Order: sequence, then structure tokens, then C-alpha cells
Amino acid sequence: MSGRLEDMASQVDTLCRKAQAQAAAADTLDALQAAQASYLGRQGALNEILRGIGRLPPEQRGQVGQLANRAKKQVEECFAARRAELEQAAANAEKQRAAQYDPTIPARREGLGSLHPVTIVQRQIEEVFGRLGFIVATGPEMESEYYNFEALNIPPMHPARDMQDTFWLGNGKVLRTQTSAVQVRAMEKYGAPLRIIAPGRCFRYEAIDPSHENTFFQLEGLMIDRNISIANLIAVMKLLLTEVFQREVEIRLRPGYFPFVEPGFELDIRCEICGGTGCPTCKQSGWIEILPCGMVHPNVLKYGGIDPLEYTGFAFGLGLTRLAMMKYGIRDIRVMNSGDLRALVPAEKLTGPTIAAVT
Ligand code: FA5
Repeated sequence: MSGRLEDMASQVDTLCRKAQAQAAAADTLDALQAAQASYLGRQGALNEILRGIGRLPPEQRGQVGQLANRAKKQVEECFAARRAELEQAAANAEKQRAAQYDPTIPARREGLGSLHPVTIVQRQIEEVFGRLGFIVATGPEMESEYYNFEALNIPPMHPARDMQDTFWLGNGKVLRTQTSAVQVRAMEKYGAPLRIIAPGRCFRYEAIDPSHENTFFQLEGLMIDRNISIANLIAVMKLLLTEVFQREVEIRLRPGYFPFVEPGFELDIRCEICGGTGCPTCKQSGWIEILPCGMVHPNVLKYGGIDPLEYTGFAFGLGLTRLAMMKYGIRDIRVMNSGDLRALVPAEKLTGPTIAAVT
């Protein structure tokens, strides 16, 4: 062999050994593919050599060509062999994983989020009222003007309609402003005596602030029977709050005007955020309006087909979202609809400052 030929031969030999070493070292199919391309690809080292053959004297070209082609074949074979090994290893690993999969293992529970604070309080109240013989009733969120206003003793043009500015829909219906809309529906369906609670979403065209949302939850309560009095109403309101907070909370009862009750009351609780000293959540008043209530107006009983001379009743319209805020020290109502997962941490971990930091 001439010097030039020997050089080429040793170059091909070195390349071949390097390629074999790299193929053996590749531990993933991707790494193998990259290594293979650097030898056998169009710009790869072997093609480089093959292209160089043209520059050799004609009598050497045949020998070098054979050498290079043999080397190329060897390199191809060693990459193919390594590929088969890696594919086999991947298949074995997959088989092993499949063999280890046990569909009967129970799902992990802890630390995977929790119910929304409103849902937690709603369920708690449903449980309390269930014990008192109340059933849970529901009504549509897209409500007729009749049930949302008229049947509640609020005729068209009545100024009380302005107290609850709502969203009117193209079909003449409204997004209900209050769960009180369920009252007459329930009276029509079940008659008297009657004990229902009706939790649900309400909507108002509202100027949003820390205690007002356009979409929030209320929980209506309605009890109709013979001889129901304000004493029953107050006893049930106190029980409700004591059960939710698991202690007595300070309340304040004021006269309140709602056309569907007579007499009507506003029941406020001491602001749980500031303890009554005043903060943005309670608008510096130290109190939160949470539980308006009263004795069902005779006209509403009549709308529901119940004789007001035989039956009386009380009703309340709990601000459920606000109650959940008070229970868990959530300062700003906007957090409740925000999708902020910090509002979903397990209830016992909900704290005022954590949530308040959102706003
Ligand atoms: C009513 O909606 C009456 N239907 C309540 C009622 C029922 C009175 C039965 C008598 C008998 P009011 O508009 O005050 O009343 O709302 C009731 C409660 O819902 C409020 O005390 C408050 O806690 C909550 N609430 C009202 N508007 C909003 C709002 N925009 N965002 C959050 N909570 C609200």
C-alpha cells in the first residue's frame, strides 16, 4: 500500500472503532440516532471519506472504496444491533411497568384540593336543617319575573324592584336575584305545612366591592305551619349560626323592609374579619348583613295557594357566600369566584391573611 492508501485505511479503521464505541455508549434511542447520523448521515464522517475517494489516484480508488464500503456496512450493523438492544430493553421495561400496575390500589386523597368553602358551609347547613325536618328544594337560575318578583309581592313598577337590579334576558326572563324565588314554587308544589331550604346561585347587576359580587350564593329558608311565630324564627336563626361557627356569634336584629315579609328584619353578625373594629369587608361598620328574615307576608302565602288565616310562616335569605367568608376569614368576595386555588385549600387551613393577599 502506498502512504496515502495506508493513511486512508487507518482513518477508516479509527472511524469504525469510534462509531462502535459510540453506539455501545448510547443509552437511549435518541442518543443512538444522533450518533448514527454523525457517521452515516449525509454529512456524516463515512460519507466524507467516500467523497474523498475521487481525489485519490485512480489505481487506489478501488481498494479504498472497498475499504470504506466494508466499514460503512460494519458501522451500520453495529448501530442496528444496538438499536435492537435498546428497543428490547424499552419493551422489557414497559412490560415490567404493566405488570406492576395495580388498578385496585385506592386513589390518593390527601392533599388533592377540597370542596369550595361555599359548598362546605352549604352542606353543613343542609345537615343541620335536615335534622329539623327541612328538605332541600331547588329552582331555576333563569327565573320568570313572576316568581322572582310578582309572587313575592313586588308588582311591576314597585320601587322595591330597584333594590335588586338584575340581568334581564332576551326571552323576558331574569337571572334570579334571590333564592326567595323558590318560595312560591315550593308552596305550589308541596303545600302546607312546609319546611324547605333552597341554596343556590343569585345574580345582580352590582357595583363590585369586597362584599358584593354579581354572582353569589344565598340559602333560602321557609317554614310554614300552624302557629309559627317570630320566636320560632329567632330560635332557628340562632341555631343556624351557632352550628356553622360552632360557637355563639354576636348578632344584631334590626327592622328591615322586604315586601314579601311582615314584619321583616335584618340580622347582622359582628364582622369576623376585624372583630367589629371596622374594615373594608364590613365597610367600616363592624357588622355584616347576612341573614335578612321575617314572617311570610299573607299575600305571598296566597300566591302559593296557602290560606293565611290557617297558616303562618317565617322565611330567611341567608347570604351564603358572605357566611362562608366570615367562617373562613376571607376578606374579599372576589376570591370566591376567581378560581384562585388558595380558596380551595382544606377548610381547616383557610386563613384570612392568606386569602386576603390575593386582592
Ligand atoms: C334578599 O335577597 C331577600 N330575598 C332575603 C330575604 C329572604 C328576606 C326571606 C326576608 C325573607 P338581600 O338583598 O338583603 O335580601 O340579600 C340577602 C343577603 O344576600 C344579604 O344579606 C347578603 O348577605 C347577600 N347578598 C346580597 N347581595 C349580595 C351581593 N351582591 N354579593 C354577595 N352577597 C350578597
